[in-house]
Parts: sequence; C-alpha cells; structure tokens
Amino acid sequence: MLNVDISNLWGEYTLNDLLALEKETLAAWQTLTQGKGPGSDYLGWMKLPVFEETAEMTRIRAAARRIRENSDIFVVVGIGGSYLGPRAAIELVQGQNHNLRGKDPQIFFAGNNLSTRAWQELCAMLEGKNFSINIISKSGTTTEPAIATRALKWMLERKYGADEAKKRIFVTTDPEKGALRQMAREEGYETFVIPPDVGGRYSVLTAVGLLPMAVAGMDISEVMFGAASAQRDMAALSFENPAWLYAAARNLCYRRGKKIEILTSYEPSFKLMGGWWQQLFGESEGKDGKGVFPFSLEFTADLHSMGQMIQQGERSLFETVVRFAPPRKKTMIEMDWKDLDGLNYLEGKSLDFVEEQAFLGTLAAHTDGGVPVILIQNDEVCDRTLGELFYFFELSCGISAYMLGVNPFNQPGVEFYKRNMFQLLGKPGYTN
Ligand code: PA5
Repeated sequence: MLNVDISNLWGEYTLNDLLALEKETLAAWQTLTQGKGPGSDYLGWMKLPVFEETAEMTRIRAAARRIRENSDIFVVVGIGGSYLGPRAAIELVQGQNHNLRGKDPQIFFAGNNLSTRAWQELCAMLEGKNFSINIISKSGTTTEPAIATRALKWMLERKYGADEAKKRIFVTTDPEKGALRQMAREEGYETFVIPPDVGGRYSVLTAVGLLPMAVAGMDISEVMFGAASAQRDMAALSFENPAWLYAAARNLCYRRGKKIEILTSYEPSFKLMGGWWQQLFGESEGKDGKGVFPFSLEFTADLHSMGQMIQQGERSLFETVVRFAPPRKKTMIEMDWKDLDGLNYLEGKSLDFVEEQAFLGTLAAHTDGGVPVILIQNDEVCDRTLGELFYFFELSCGISAYMLGVNPFNQPGVEFYKRNMFQLLGKPGYTN
C-alpha cells in the first residue's frame, strides 16, 4: 500500500510546522470532496475508480482484443491530458522497450507534436504493417492531433478501403460535442467517452488511458482496483491520509521559499509518469501568479547531470522521491577473478542492494544540502500499484491546489499560445 514519509523534512522544518497546516488541509479536503470550490463541475474523476468491471470496461476489453488480433501497430493520437497518461502507464508497467518485446502490438504515439521528422518516421514504421488508430481528444478540435488524424485516416482508407478502415479507427472524445464526435458519428467509428466533468489531465482512468493500456496487454481491472483501493484507503480526515500529507508537505515547502519540486524515481520506466505528474500539478496549480514549479528527473542517471545543481545551487528546491518495492527476482553481481574493474567488493550483492545504497546516500546528501525530501513508497510496479499512484496524485493535487487558493480544474493560460498560432495560420475566426 502507498505510504508517504515526511521524516526527511525535519532538517528544514518541524512537525509543528506541518501540524499547523492540519485545519487548512481539512478545509481544502472539504472544499474538494463536497464540491464547494471553483471548478467543482470537474469532479467526475472522483467517480471513476470502481472495484467492479463496468460495461464501458467490457467494451474497451473487446475492442482491445480485436486490435490485438488484427494489428501489428496501434497508433494513439492525442496531446497533453489525452496523451501523457496512457503513455506513462504503458511505459511504467510494460517497460520503456515494450515495443521490442514482440508479444503485443507495437504502440506509437502521434499528434503530440508538429515535427515533420517525427511524422515521417511514423509513416516509415507503418509501411507494410497492419495498424489501427485511437484518436483521443476531449474538445475534438486540438490542432496537433487533428492534423495527424486527417493523414492517418487517409492512410487507413487507402490501405484497407473505407469499410475496413472504419473498423480500425477508435475515437475517445466528449459524448456530444466537438468535431471528432461529429466525424465519428458520420463515419460510423466505434467511440468511447470522456465524461464532460472530467478534465484532460484527470482523464487517465477513462477510456483515454484504459484502451491503450488494454491493447498493451495490461489488466485494466487491476488498474481500476488499485485506484478504487486508493480512494477507499485515502479517506481519513487526518495526516494518516497520504494525500493530505503530500499536499500539506508540498505547501509547507512552497511557503518557505521552496518554489520548485523535483519529482524523481530510481525506475527509468517512471520517466513518462514524471511527465504526466508535471502536467497534473503544473496545469492545476500554475495560475494567478502562484504555484510550485514541477520538474521531473530520473535517478541515478540525472544525478550525473543535475546532481550538482540540486546539492549546491539556488536553495529553492524540494524533492519528492517515488520508490517501488524491488522485484522478487534478484539480479546478483558476480565475482570476476581478474577484478580489473575493482568491483569484487560487491560480489554476491544484489543490484537492488546497490540501488538502495545509492538512494540512501543521495537522500542524506540532499537533506544535508538543504533540500527537504518527501518519500512516496509503493509496492512493486504492477497494474494495481499504477492505479493507486494515479489516484493518489490526482487527489493530492486537488487538495494542494485548494490550499494554494487556486482553481485546480481550469487552464486559461493554455489558450494564449493557441490564439496566436491560429492567427498566424489564418484560421477562420482568428484573423484580424
Ligand atoms: O489538460 C488539458 O486540458 C490539456 O492538456 C488537454 O488535455 C490538451 O490540450 C488536449 O486537449 P484535447 O483532449 O481537447 O485535445
């Protein structure tokens, strides 16, 4: 079960500093769970976790089965909240090299950039392969996925003919609104719903995340079970609740001048989870001139590039480390009779043991260097742990943003670049 350990804040702060925030945390929790705050029409994500399989989940499984049978490649088209969650989930559980395992369809992501090189690379991958696509867009009008959709739809129609192409296009969007819903209706594509009261960055436990996860061979019931367990276990009205603890600890750090949060893990496959978390917290909190700047790193790799900055740079950082229990199967370090690399002192030790010492050494160094550290401890990486972690971060984010005094569920700033871009592109309705 997920656990938050804040004992490594005490070099900088005291338990009383944290306890002083208990009432405020309760108030933020009530604002969130009773739907009293700004953005309360976007609380649908709290209704998503379920212990029982829903009809939508059964339909997702059936679609995934067909895709797995008839496709070498599955292209997931989407950006932001319609992209990061599924990719993060698949990479964490199935590994960053999931496409090389040969067991499941390869999964590629498109429509999350405007790079000609990336597009041409994808087209080369699709050459001669059977493929299906999942277009994900809540608004149904976002430029990057719309451009990729148009081209992929043509490719499918040319390759298979209009009727077969229809069976290979899956749409995840708003139940009523948007160009994508309209397209799906007219063309007869199978659709899945992003409920209107679930914002993009909170949508990973809808079909947005679940269909790609199922195609990747993950057990979506287990993911949901993990999320539902987190919801059940994170209901305490006290700092026994891990979500309270994380939300309060990061607000404490922020108020004491620690304006940047580094989220890190010692699992390379956590990298995209860091991206998902950055969007969740960045878009939810970064407004009204406020907000912790979320930045994710990968340890130990980034200790060799950013370690100096963390240890001795501007003292405006705090760190959150996500730990997982090690796999049961150990990897041991062997004896080498020549010992040319000088590693025989580690003979008979497991790789986990070395990793644990790296973690402990780094923890001590960073706390000595004035970087408060929050630890989030989890069971071994699996579908269930993933679901638990997703819900934990979503819940913590809602509480944390209300403690900060901002609306966790809007993103007015994201529109600014779009408006300028549309003007430059000459989109009807945006020209002067
Ligand atoms: O969180 C958000 O709302 C955004 O990041 C969106 O998810 C992103 O802009 C994609 O939007 P859409 O799903 O409407 O294509």
